Amino acid sequence: MSLLAPSVSAVVVAVLAGSGAARAATSGSFDILTMNVAGLPAILQSNDVPGDKATNAGTIGSDFAKYGYDVINVQEDFNYHAYIYATDNHTYRTATSGGAAIGSGLNTLANFDWIDFTRIGWDQCSDASGSDCLTPKGFTMMRTKVDSGVYVDMYNIHADAGTETGDETARNSNLQQVADYIDTWSTGNAVIVFGDTNSRYTRTADNIGIFASQNGLTDSWLRLERGGVVPTVESLCDNPSTTNDCETVDKVFYRGNSIVSMDATYFNYESSKFVQADGDILSDHNPISVVFAWTLSSSLRQSDFWGGPHGTWFSDLPTLNSHSKPKASILTFRGGSRLDSVGLTLTDGTTFVHGGTGGTQAQLTLGASEYWTSAILCQGQKSGQTRNFYIKATTSSGNTLAAGTSTSDCATLSAPAGWQIVGFVGQDGDEMDQLAFVFAPQ
Ligand SMILES: *[C@@H]1O[C@H](CO)[C@@H](O)[C@H](O)[C@H]1NC(C)=O
Repeated sequence: MSLLAPSVSAVVVAVLAGSGAARAATSGSFDILTMNVAGLPAILQSNDVPGDKATNAGTIGSDFAKYGYDVINVQEDFNYHAYIYATDNHTYRTATSGGAAIGSGLNTLANFDWIDFTRIGWDQCSDASGSDCLTPKGFTMMRTKVDSGVYVDMYNIHADAGTETGDETARNSNLQQVADYIDTWSTGNAVIVFGDTNSRYTRTADNIGIFASQNGLTDSWLRLERGGVVPTVESLCDNPSTTNDCETVDKVFYRGNSIVSMDATYFNYESSKFVQADGDILSDHNPISVVFAWTLSSSLRQSDFWGGPHGTWFSDLPTLNSHSKPKASILTFRGGSRLDSVGLTLTDGTTFVHGGTGGTQAQLTLGASEYWTSAILCQGQKSGQTRNFYIKATTSSGNTLAAGTSTSDCATLSAPAGWQIVGFVGQDGDEMDQLAFVFAPQ
């Protein structure tokens, strides 16, 4: 965590998924950093940063270790990547996608593990100014596990640069692409987008407001430094910036979901922490840190995930959100050599089904005061990919329902005491690739 930021804490120590009824934390906080590390080859681009780029990259890495931000998104992490990782010590780090002309320059260094990491290239680029098409830029997404049952989809982005018409057209397309991806792959989820948008509110053709209008994200700078008022006049930052009032193209947008509320409590241009031995800057961008406070809902929560990162994202949360007292009355699973589908019907007739139509159906009707409280999931390999092979549900009355074929790699995912399983989130195809359970109070 950042030395100057509020301390990062968890109220109760969490236990890992698969260990039965989890006494997980119900609130906490974490900090993030976004930094364009100016790592294009020196021969192509000095980035107006003095000094030796390899030495500077090593200093950036040791500052990452020193300040210990929980999740760091870097952009332009091209040809000096190894120097950053050599001096940094974060536990979880993405493997580089390559130097300039090959990779996207996007990497993440974190104290948290994640699932479902994906790199996506832009549909459009423009060489109207600069050479944005020289290297395949784009964005990344990871479903970051902040705590047991607390997931935030974190996006790192580096949009097209420049202010020629072609640049703004490409950038508008880039931002739209991310917004549409969030609608598909982060439905129902908490989200943070942090990276180099190359946009300002005054570059109106970009439509940087799309993250608010389409995805319901809040800009942490607008909220904490500008009272939520969208600027109509450009305000450039010095580097290092001595104020948080000015606007940079590096931005941090966020939203919570029906499981976890999220609030940005601290915003800062961290430039003064990232300087060379002689006080010179390390990047032509001011790095940004934001602290997020999170709190779990008292009406909906979720388990950790089991299975592999394949298939299409689905979530029952948007439907469950409009139910005041959901309770499962019928469980319906399909399975054979693997788990084909999971489903349940709520007492009001609402039905959730995920997966395919293969396998044999198994069904259990619950009594009026009987709740689905726990499930065992077992995973295995099919065609070199991990998916769920087996489910066994247990109710508060001790009844069970199973489908599929058990393996030696299983997890028990239980609702907290006084809670029950009422729905699903995960990824499916014609079988159940990845699965977690949604909990509601009994
Ligand atoms: C990383 O290094 C810093 C000191 O530079 C230290 O305070 C921190 O505990 C280390 N973190 C890990 C995960 O080893």
